[in-house]
Amino acid sequence: MAAKDNVRVDGLRGAVYFDAVPLLLVAVLLALTACSGPFPQSALAPRSDFASDVDGLFWNIFWWAVVVFLIVETLLLVAIARYRARPGAPPPKPVHGHTALEIGWTLAPALILVFIAVPTIRTIFATAGQAPEGALRVEVIGHQWWWEYRYPTLEISTSNELHLPVGTPIQVEMTSADVIHSFWVPALGGKRDLTQGRTTRIAFKADSVGEYWGQCAEFCGTSHANMRLRVVVEPDSAFQRWVDQQRAAPLAPAPGSVAEQGRQIFRRSACIGCHAIAGVATAKVGPDLTHLGSRATIAGALFPNSAEWLRRWIQNAPALKPGALMPPQNLSGADLDAVVAYLQSLK
Ligand code: CUA
Repeated sequence: MAAKDNVRVDGLRGAVYFDAVPLLLVAVLLALTACSGPFPQSALAPRSDFASDVDGLFWNIFWWAVVVFLIVETLLLVAIARYRARPGAPPPKPVHGHTALEIGWTLAPALILVFIAVPTIRTIFATAGQAPEGALRVEVIGHQWWWEYRYPTLEISTSNELHLPVGTPIQVEMTSADVIHSFWVPALGGKRDLTQGRTTRIAFKADSVGEYWGQCAEFCGTSHANMRLRVVVEPDSAFQRWVDQQRAAPLAPAPGSVAEQGRQIFRRSACIGCHAIAGVATAKVGPDLTHLGSRATIAGALFPNSAEWLRRWIQNAPALKPGALMPPQNLSGADLDAVVAYLQSLK
């Protein structure tokens, strides 16, 4: 008898222990994800109507889960304390066919599911991707492993860094040049797949000025994890300045300057096989470099746009970003410096 009791008590301790571990993990994870500071890609810091809808739904479901968890754990603890085996005590009386109980535990979960399903369906429709009339259209094209953005109504295009005006509805129309990617900027919206030959849509309205990071969220090959993106949400005036800058042709480098030498080298090197620069090259395989100097990052928003990183990138892109389709370029020190100077001059 005594030995049997010991086994049971150990078994109960085991149950309590296993309940506590995931609880602790959840608490730690919540504490980590709640602070958006060191985690710039947090869906819990919404900055658009789309992200707020998803965030609201998340908390709605989360609190229902908390209620269910508390009820279940309380009943479990009560049962453990009240009905545990005691020496000499008779086994507790089982309950059979208790109508009120059975109706209760059928109806209560059904009602909770309704309370979860209604806002879920509402959110699915609210985030289906149709922007109101007059929204700014942006075409997003996924490439291995970078993002191309076109603004058909503004007649500009750029790469990796998406600029948007604050408070304006945005209609994002997405497709892929190769495999399936997924556009995801946790603070603003997504994720939604980009598929070759199809157009998928999201719509949102950013409500705060700021810089938001995003990430391809669909495995798309070697550098999937390096397919980052940056969204700059700015006031109307700043956005308009950016648009004007992107529309204008970049200033031609001064004759005899290092940048001008770089331009000449660029024109006769392999670069023009893949990249476009207005007035210099027209290929569309890699990112358009017409205004490269105006971007803060390069290589799918992976590295800062500095002379040092440009140099390393041109020399051996696949070494910095596994699988990168740009082959190492065989440029000597002075030629490389000139090309870097030229690229940096492209504001
Ligand atoms: Cu593109 Cu993952």
